[in-house]
Amino acid sequence: MRVMFVCLGNICRSPMAEMIMKEMVKKEGLSSEIFVSSSGISDEEEGNGMYPPAQKILIEKGIKVEERCAKKITQEDIFEYDYIVVMEKYQKDRILKNYIVSNPSKVECLNNKDVLDPWYTGDFLTTYEEIYQGCSQLLKKIKKEL
Ligand code: 4NP
Repeated sequence: MRVMFVCLGNICRSPMAEMIMKEMVKKEGLSSEIFVSSSGISDEEEGNGMYPPAQKILIEKGIKVEERCAKKITQEDIFEYDYIVVMEKYQKDRILKNYIVSNPSKVECLNNKDVLDPWYTGDFLTTYEEIYQGCSQLLKKIKKEL
């Protein structure tokens, strides 16, 4: 099972979701069955590392932070991944508009409401909590499909 988290820049929300989900998957002993990654719909931050305050909140919460570089989602990703999980409905709309998506139902929002961008709000704790909640629900769902 392959899960791709997507936000705008891929330096705050989607890498937070990637690291949180990896930690949850590891705790459940499912690392060999569920592959997790992240990307953005923009290439603006391509090659950049995670935004330091996003790393800081993960470290405070005991989540392992991997070295990584921001990347833009590709058409190949859309074909390869089983779940494309976006932080905001805007990103879902953009993916469905700009890429060939043979199974649109695999593009879904992490939560019922948008995960606000901490790049603008500065509230990394709320973002962490919303993402944690969403990942927990998503993992429950994915586990039933393994
Ligand atoms: P993210 O946050 O989508 O959660 O990674 C953002 C990071 C950078 C920018 C926008 C959003 N930016 O415009 O540079």
